[in-house]
Amino acid sequence: MEKIKRTTIKDIFAAPQEYEGKQVDVKGWVRTRRGNKNVQFVALNDGSTIRNLQIVFDMSRFSDEELKPITTGSSIHVQGLLVASAGKGQSVEVQAGELEVYGTADPATYPLQKKGHTLEFLREKAHLRPRTNTFGAVLRIRHALAYAIHKFFNDKGFYYFHTPLITSSDCEGAGAQFQVTTLPLNDLPLTEDGKPDYSEDFFGKMASLTVSGQLEGELGATALGSIYTFGPTFRAENSNTPRHLSEFWMIEPEMAFYEIEDNMDLAEEFIKYCVKYALEHCADDIDFLQEHFDPELKERLNFVVENDFVRLPYTEGVKILEEAQKEGRKFEFPVFWGADLASEHERFLVEEHFKRPVILTDYPKEIKAFYMKLNDDGKTVRAMDVLFPKIGEIIGGSQREENFDKLQARVDELGLTGMDWYMDTRRYGTVPHSGFGLGFERLVLFVTGMQNIRDVIPFPRYPKNCEY
Ligand code: 4AD
Ligand code: MG
Repeated sequence: MEKIKRTTIKDIFAAPQEYEGKQVDVKGWVRTRRGNKNVQFVALNDGSTIRNLQIVFDMSRFSDEELKPITTGSSIHVQGLLVASAGKGQSVEVQAGELEVYGTADPATYPLQKKGHTLEFLREKAHLRPRTNTFGAVLRIRHALAYAIHKFFNDKGFYYFHTPLITSSDCEGAGAQFQVTTLPLNDLPLTEDGKPDYSEDFFGKMASLTVSGQLEGELGATALGSIYTFGPTFRAENSNTPRHLSEFWMIEPEMAFYEIEDNMDLAEEFIKYCVKYALEHCADDIDFLQEHFDPELKERLNFVVENDFVRLPYTEGVKILEEAQKEGRKFEFPVFWGADLASEHERFLVEEHFKRPVILTDYPKEIKAFYMKLNDDGKTVRAMDVLFPKIGEIIGGSQREENFDKLQARVDELGLTGMDWYMDTRRYGTVPHSGFGLGFERLVLFVTGMQNIRDVIPFPRYPKNCEY
């Protein structure tokens, strides 16, 4: 074949007039082939967009034998003339001139046939599902959101700060860490009192995968002013729910000189920016997901962008839930002041009571992490959880306790050790500061309207599953 520069299908549809009447060179995977003995139509997808390019084969120029390998899933290279299309459904098409088949996909065994597959089936074939329309759409939206996040913070003067994935601290203190060790598990070196001897371990102490970059992020914020992290986090909680992963990505901004109100303002602006970015830049993919999965998707996304979030203290939230219970609303888990709210409670507040996102603040200190700033009542802390329709908690954050003595008292109360480096942020030049963590997959879940968090990350990790 003659050497012509390859064009992506996305570029062709972005400016078809630039290519019309010219030879184009396209490469991709065949979605479908249909036609008759005179003419054959191939729908070609190259992953750059959800849209397929129609390739027309005039069968007076090609033999049946030449087209035989072109089945669903096969990969081809085509050169031909881009022309306005007479058929409906597409504006332009390619009149095939030259064909090269890269790879066949035996229809007897290729798992992705042109009929739609269930998401459950595709989860079993997760190594191939990026080739489906649905996962193509989700993964392109995921990319756009990641880009929007970096853009949002960069444009605001935040610095991207890299916190470690292997750590010797436990940020959230929930006991859900994966250990990192090179000790031989079948022949553990033991200390005198029969415990594993971590001094023999790779790092000379016990180490784990991080559950959050926040504590290290605070070191960044109390030096650079405003930082954010964006990386994988790991939690070994045995949560088999549609909203939990064992490995997920988190974005954690941390800002010096921010109080809780500033923190809430930032969180609300940030989420709205991301959702708006996706609406503006992923229209084709969102339209596809709306048509096939979720007829209310765009309405819900626009609603979030256009409306203020409710801001409500936890104590008020609990009162509303107790009222609802008195009036006959049933919940599976108990509601009382001091209870950690379950997803059903969060979603009641958001979906049934207020019918908009809610930022719940000032939680009892017992159910929140040690680093949160104590309120004057001595009972609650300046926490903020952002609760979303369909998702429940999408963001968790707080103003941090900046007072050395108060924080040390909390550290002692909970028996935390090895925190001296962290206490230095309060020991030297301490400042009021705040931050939050956004679960990236929960954002992608919301924006795509998918139902299960395992369907918005290419290779999901969850209990009893670690394929690929
Ligand atoms: O509420 P979390 O545990 O907060 C923290 O880790 C803080 N250190 C954040 C901070 O203040 N810098 O987690 C933050 C968010 C949750 O709101 C949720 O969206 C997501 O992370 N998340 C998970 N997402 C998927 N799978 C899991 N197992 C998750 N656990 C938390
Ligand atoms: Mg939380």
